[in-house]
Amino acid sequence: MPDFQSILEIIQQDAINALDKGSVATYIPELAHIDINNFGIHLRTSDGNDYGIGDYNKPFSIQSISKVLALAKAMALIGEDTWKRIDVEPSGHPFNQLALLEIENGIPRNPFINSGAIVIADILVSNLKNPKKDFLNYVRDLTGDDNINFNIDVAHSEKITGFKNFAAANLLKSFKNLNNPVEEVLDFYFHQCAIEMTCEQLTKAFFFLANKGTCMLNKTRLSKPQAKRINALMLTCGFYDEAGEFAFEVGLPGKSGVGGGIVALLPDNYIITTWAPGLNKKGNSKLGMLALEEFTSKTKLSVF
Ligand code: DON
Repeated sequence: MPDFQSILEIIQQDAINALDKGSVATYIPELAHIDINNFGIHLRTSDGNDYGIGDYNKPFSIQSISKVLALAKAMALIGEDTWKRIDVEPSGHPFNQLALLEIENGIPRNPFINSGAIVIADILVSNLKNPKKDFLNYVRDLTGDDNINFNIDVAHSEKITGFKNFAAANLLKSFKNLNNPVEEVLDFYFHQCAIEMTCEQLTKAFFFLANKGTCMLNKTRLSKPQAKRINALMLTCGFYDEAGEFAFEVGLPGKSGVGGGIVALLPDNYIITTWAPGLNKKGNSKLGMLALEEFTSKTKLSVF
């Protein structure tokens, strides 16, 4: 067994010394205030050992990481019907690109680019009684922690500046791939993205995907094949036009968010969450990606 704590300490030191930490997302104004020097990692092994370093207990905006949990909830609710409205191919383009959506008649390439996540949000709005409350409770239940909340200021900040997401939702509507009103679906989507969690909470929430669909509290959340499919999608689409790079350098299914978080996992082995708010040009955490590359290289624990 590798000495995980010492490895995390080396990775933290390298991150502190890094000359280029990327830059914090500013297109959601409320995220622009976050201190770029935050850095945390939390690791949980499948046999129940926990390791944390740095700011692993500070909440941050999970943003696109929420898309994985939203997809899991949609698949639990409507199963295979999910794939009538969204494809499962990497897009090779930025997360907010719209050209492919138009060319491909309103069927998003995958559930992790924004247009795909907006279709998933539409499914949840149609199938949950109180969509925002029920989804938040789902995330709390997965984590076993009622201290998880939306940051209303972040949701509002994105609502008044999210013109591209409004364009995506309207385009979907024009292709009849959005059943609920644009405003209602985006209100849900902006709140979903504005959930705040710590590295440790995210590691716990994602446990079911490393554990064949059964969560930390021993409840079956998805079938084994469904968990397998979500992991496949994280590997191929979790980092947008940098998914190849992440598979090449890190070799794990994972998902990033513009709040600077990344969750990655090795099925039946471990879940790891990093937080470093500075992003690279593709919108993924710069030091988070480097940290995970270092982690899988030093531990030799990746899917490949
Ligand atoms: O819709 C957006 O643009 C944001 N709420 C989420 C984008 C995001 O996190 C992309 N991931 N790296």
